Amino acid sequence: MAEKEKKQNVRKPLHKIFTDIPNHYDLVNHLITWGLDKRWRKAAALKCLSKKPQRMLDLCCGTGDLALTVARLADYPIEIRGLDFSQPMLEIAAQKASSLKGKTIAFDQGDASKMPYENGHFDCVSNSFGFRNLTYNNPQSKEHLSEILRVLKPGGRLVVVESSQPRSSFVRFFYHLYMRYYVYWVGVIVSGNKPAYRYLSESTIKYYSPSELEKLLTGAGFREVNYYPMLFGASGVYEAIK
Ligand SMILES: C[S@@+](CC[C@H](N)C(=O)[O-])C[C@H]1O[C@@H](n2cnc3c(N)ncnc32)[C@H](O)[C@@H]1O
Repeated sequence: MAEKEKKQNVRKPLHKIFTDIPNHYDLVNHLITWGLDKRWRKAAALKCLSKKPQRMLDLCCGTGDLALTVARLADYPIEIRGLDFSQPMLEIAAQKASSLKGKTIAFDQGDASKMPYENGHFDCVSNSFGFRNLTYNNPQSKEHLSEILRVLKPGGRLVVVESSQPRSSFVRFFYHLYMRYYVYWVGVIVSGNKPAYRYLSESTIKYYSPSELEKLLTGAGFREVNYYPMLFGASGVYEAIK
């Protein structure tokens, strides 16, 4: 492992998690969501494209699935970049993107708290299943949100697809059991990485409800926050304007 990556692992525990799991990452995602993760990303991609952005950033792009979905669905020229701090995730993303026909996606390695882009560069910033990482119990949560605002144009949109909290306490009870046992053990058995899937199940169980996330976003300076729940609110798409 490069010296730079090692130093980053010590400074940011999440960075270690996401440099250790890429080989099993997609498979575990499909298994724990029964393949619904693809449908959820597609819903976010359609939201991104609904206002025909010219330049969009998929923040925390991981293995690139949301950026690739947007590229496949866009029926007009669009500049798409993906940013992630895990080089191994980005290598998988770049490999997948090499089979795209007639579209290109540029992938950049970088940290969400200090992005390598000019002010107001993007019409749309998307994030699939990485927003929890940026905001749950993260001492840099405020910096992440202000960086997103900085790189968005005035009137630009943030589109997030993320796990959420079902409104019904009955559904929430079973959803938390599912996260704590099924998701944790499938993750551990397939990837062999206990800390990664302990983090996933615990952070998902404790993550913000839609109203709490709306408060976080408006507190950071976003406006017109909309939430579209999916699967009884286990997951949902958030849209917010700069
Ligand atoms: C749960 S994965 C989601 C990946 C992808 N968007 C998807 O839909 O599968 C979260 C991603 O966020 C990245 N990440 C977490 N914190 C980050 C940060 N501060 N800066 C850049 N990337 C970060 C991780 O490396 C990881 O690839």
